[in-house]
Amino acid sequence: MNKSDEFWWRHGIFYQIYPRSFQDSNADGVGDLVGIIERLPYLQALGVDAIWLSPIFPSPMADFGYDICDYCGVDPLFGTMEAFDVLVNTAHAAGLKIILDLVPNHTSDRHPWFIESRRSRDDPKRDWYIWREAAADGGPPNNWMSEFGGSAWQYDAASRQYYYHAFLAQQPDLNWRNPAVRHAIYDVMRFWLRKGVDGFRVDVIWHLIKDQEFRDNPPNPNFREGQPPHQRILPLHSTDRAEVHGVIAEMRRVIDEFGSRVLIGEIYLPLERLVAYYGRDLAGAHLPFNFALLSAPWNARGIEKIIFEYEQVLPAGAWPNWVLGNHDRPRVASRVGRDQARVAAMLLLTLRGTPTLYYGDEIGMHQVAIAPDQVRDPFEKNVPGIGVGRDGCRTPMQWNATPYAGFSTSTPWLPVADDFVHENVVNLDADSRSILSLYKALIGLRKKLPQLVSGAYVPIAAAGDLLLYRRESDGRAVVVALNLGAEPVSIASDALRAGGEILLSTFLDRQGEKIQGSLDLRGNEGVIIGA
Ligand code: GLC
Repeated sequence: MNKSDEFWWRHGIFYQIYPRSFQDSNADGVGDLVGIIERLPYLQALGVDAIWLSPIFPSPMADFGYDICDYCGVDPLFGTMEAFDVLVNTAHAAGLKIILDLVPNHTSDRHPWFIESRRSRDDPKRDWYIWREAAADGGPPNNWMSEFGGSAWQYDAASRQYYYHAFLAQQPDLNWRNPAVRHAIYDVMRFWLRKGVDGFRVDVIWHLIKDQEFRDNPPNPNFREGQPPHQRILPLHSTDRAEVHGVIAEMRRVIDEFGSRVLIGEIYLPLERLVAYYGRDLAGAHLPFNFALLSAPWNARGIEKIIFEYEQVLPAGAWPNWVLGNHDRPRVASRVGRDQARVAAMLLLTLRGTPTLYYGDEIGMHQVAIAPDQVRDPFEKNVPGIGVGRDGCRTPMQWNATPYAGFSTSTPWLPVADDFVHENVVNLDADSRSILSLYKALIGLRKKLPQLVSGAYVPIAAAGDLLLYRRESDGRAVVVALNLGAEPVSIASDALRAGGEILLSTFLDRQGEKIQGSLDLRGNEGVIIGA
């Protein structure tokens, strides 16, 4: 990849590392920065271009780093600032970009800002957070709910006011209407950008601004028992406020001070609202994360509709992106099943838009069952038993067949999946038909064929379990045919048009096969066809 290329984030492939679970170098059972440095050659060989690290900053770890008490440091659990600098330099030398997680919506309740803020009603930092009087009955100021269960308001007996927390009570929300807060976070961004980081993934960016009048949220008419309790109400007044776009444009200007860096936003919203986060005149996030595939029912017609809708609502000039997994959602291999995980990989790496891979998905890691006494996730602890726990998608990376999968030499903070003896990087790398080999082949093809990166997405009419599309640019095209079902399907030759030959099958056994007449796909097979 050309280093001076300002659009590297369009051509590149992103890879999310959950640092606690990637590689432990000091035998404490928790992954760290030196561990990541040791594994850079793996990422280079895989062929990804940019690594996004979930938070590495000093934190009491109530939400495993999404509760920060010092924005400009490194938690000793993960290592030192020196190790971080080595990571950036080594990654850059290897042609890899480093993206950090910026968590500006809330701090830890142990952040010095909050400690000052809660000291008294007239502390100069009081207005850095969201403090409100009790309702007339002494209860919370309004009906807003915490995403992790219960009211979003925590009573502070000393000052007899409530503070707002969209997540844990240990994660008080900053007041983004206060310019002092905004500038403090912009300086945090500059601190890391000066160190050479290539951009940020901004945590819950659509939460930053809340309704100025703190109106009650309306009930959710579609709520069903078994859903997380906060979904009883619709977050109409507590998230996705129009004023947030002004704030994001300010963040973007900070990014632009440094050139060639990327601003990614974490946003869970319907597609038509999501695309507003590109900002007016595209002056907002470069990439508002598109999570549509994370919750999509896995069927060809539904996925086709999502792609079509997304392509329709994208503003002119906006660059698309796609995500198959992250540290908050069940593993793709468990959502769609082992066989379809290969088809999902081919989908992700042949769609128009920057793909983001979640660590371990390239080796087919599945959702690990977590026994009650092994639960670490505060979401599961607060709202137990309905399947919201996120530990199962955060288990240690499976590197090899040695104890603890080569992740650590002592007991890991979360259990290793029990299939690690077979399902690990060393084994799968040696198997030319493994899912890891498929990921490498897909990434290699995407790098080789410009139409897979910048070509138009052209749907081709198909029925049943078949998803069919063409990617074409400058008269060059490939056709992607994905069978989202377990039964074989046959594709008529006129639908393929490209003629040509198979460049890649998800089974890795048909490269070079010439297509004569119709094309037969096995159950759970996807192919890329070149003209
Ligand atoms: C984001 C993070 C999630 C975290 C939450 C609160 O959704 O991805 O892991 O718990 O924000 O910071």
